[in-house]
Amino acid sequence: MDVRQHFPALDRQIYGKPLIYFDNAATAQRPRAVLDLQERLALESNGNIHRAIHTLSAEATDRYEAGREAVRRYLNAPARENVILTSGTTASINLVAACFTQRFVGPGDRILVSEAEHHSNLVPWQLACSRCGAKLAVLPVDERGEISLDELDRQLREGAGKIRLVAVTHVSNILGVINPVREIVEIAHRYEVPVLLDGAQGIVHAPVDVQALDCDFYAFSGHKIYAPTGIGVLYGKREWLEAMPPYMGGGEMIDTVTFEETTYAPLPLKFEAGTPNFTAAACFVPALAVAREMADDPALQENLRAMRDYLLEELPKIEGLHLYGTPRDPEKKIPLFSCAVEGAFPADLAQILDKMGIAVRSGHNCAEPLLRRYGLTSVLRASLAPYNTLSECEAFVKALRRAIQMLR
Ligand code: ALA
Repeated sequence: MDVRQHFPALDRQIYGKPLIYFDNAATAQRPRAVLDLQERLALESNGNIHRAIHTLSAEATDRYEAGREAVRRYLNAPARENVILTSGTTASINLVAACFTQRFVGPGDRILVSEAEHHSNLVPWQLACSRCGAKLAVLPVDERGEISLDELDRQLREGAGKIRLVAVTHVSNILGVINPVREIVEIAHRYEVPVLLDGAQGIVHAPVDVQALDCDFYAFSGHKIYAPTGIGVLYGKREWLEAMPPYMGGGEMIDTVTFEETTYAPLPLKFEAGTPNFTAAACFVPALAVAREMADDPALQENLRAMRDYLLEELPKIEGLHLYGTPRDPEKKIPLFSCAVEGAFPADLAQILDKMGIAVRSGHNCAEPLLRRYGLTSVLRASLAPYNTLSECEAFVKALRRAIQMLR
């Protein structure tokens, strides 16, 4: 697969230099098939979904439901009722935090999160806990960025009957470490505690099978997996989704409405109030087809491994550079590298790199508690996609060395 030809944005020049796009964990570039579909739907099928019988509305509804079906297949979810379309990972987690705690969490209870969570899998739980008198419990990560399953077991045993849900990231957006999510689910289920997985980064680098994982909830965003922004997914097991109250009230999430009482639509519409981003949802069809094609391409997978191994080896050779997220088994790392460099602020490095055509992210990257654990306030992050190349990695290391020299 000649992957780069599918992604027109990669042809851009920045300050007269060819773009090296290493900020894929923030948002990935979109393939031409997605860009074309966005345009075609806006031109031809812009009718509000599930509402009218005219052709435009019927076409838009079919496309929206085709997007849901593409997600269902990609996740191997049992049925369309398990797939709620939201605006993104953040909305998906806020939905569970609000509705699950309303029904199942009370004063003195705990929600167990890990130390490596993005703020999106932390703050919604804090907000929800403050409403129902519960608190967070925290599972630490070690120096390498790994979670201890023994510690998870210990916390669940000691918190038996109090810990109501485990909410952990599949892959941290800072560490790039793939957490042992199957084992986490298995241990939590021994204590009859459900598990929500934040899949914002985890869905991107290998297809996910929610039935094999046996997780209770899985959340992710479209824009990190080649779909547009403004669309996301909440997978949930049916028994939880049925038992939870609705999240937002409004159009399309109802069965009947009177001034006295409202009854709700069956799943999945019960959780889909208001006009959704139906064009972006439809784009899951081409986006996930491209994601699947890349995941199944042995040459691209080998390229990803080669880039990961190269950067794991070369970055620590840079004097004063500290890399975070170095699991004992390198196969447990996605090609995402966060580092701090002595004598050089991440934001300054990112700015110089941008002038060299290289897009990376700097800052706390929405994971302040994790950075604090390593004594940091900011990191520089390079996150790769299958369309990146080894020669881009070589250029990045060279440019980073130069940028550091300029600042020292
Ligand atoms: N969560 C995204 C990131 O890590 C925005 O950059």
